[in-house]
Amino acid sequence: MNRLSCRLAAVASFIDNNDKVMIDIGCDHALLSIFLAKRYPNLKVIASDINKNALQGAINNIKKNNLEVRIETRLGKGLDVLKEEDKIDTIIISGMGANTIVGMLKYSRNKLINVNKIIVQSNTDLYFLRKNITSINYYIADELLVKDNGIIYTVIVFKKGKKRYAYKQLYLGPVLLEKKDTLFKEKYRKDLNTLKMIVKNIDEGHYWYKLKLKKNIRILEKII
Ligand SMILES: C[S@@+](CC[C@H](N)C(=O)[O-])C[C@H]1O[C@@H](n2cnc3c(N)ncnc32)[C@H](O)[C@@H]1O
Repeated sequence: MNRLSCRLAAVASFIDNNDKVMIDIGCDHALLSIFLAKRYPNLKVIASDINKNALQGAINNIKKNNLEVRIETRLGKGLDVLKEEDKIDTIIISGMGANTIVGMLKYSRNKLINVNKIIVQSNTDLYFLRKNITSINYYIADELLVKDNGIIYTVIVFKKGKKRYAYKQLYLGPVLLEKKDTLFKEKYRKDLNTLKMIVKNIDEGHYWYKLKLKKNIRILEKII
């Protein structure tokens, strides 16, 4: 079995036997796809990447593991690589910025018809990510913080369905807020210090941005 980083293992932990056909978008080396194909013999896996060299690396790794029959590779951008007949039910997008993730999901909403689960690992603007994905008929089913090489990563699982969220939940994560584990406190303590530094150094021209940061600081000060 391939050894996965703690970050990728956390992403993998949200796949289960109910998932039938999944795509790992931006697979790079395809280590995650290889791990999942081995662990779930009935799971059909598609591994895609926009970068030709990255995909070639994935193809080489898949061959080394004799998984060519189990993992199909596709070159292309986001969900563009999907065909109707794929009947994808699960999407993984890991290690990408919130803007890219939201862009690819919103741009290809017609490809989401059969998709019940979207597992996302991103470390940029999680408020924006949660707000936008929950606006396209997905709710936040689970969340996990994982520390890997000193960095705390957030993994979010969206499932088909509607739920309304308060600003604070979209900012900090509704499930993470419920759990409030030690990594939660460590992560948001760091974020609070960073926000205070930014607010101190920001010039007066950025009035609305400063107001938003101050609002987030007040939220963080109450929960930590
Ligand atoms: C930082 S790597 C993450 C690799 C792996 N998913 C992980 O979590 O370790 C990001 C990968 O996404 C690919 N990528 C970036 N934008 C993409 C897009 N719009 N569609 C598909 N792949 C993309 C890059 O080529 C790169 O291989």
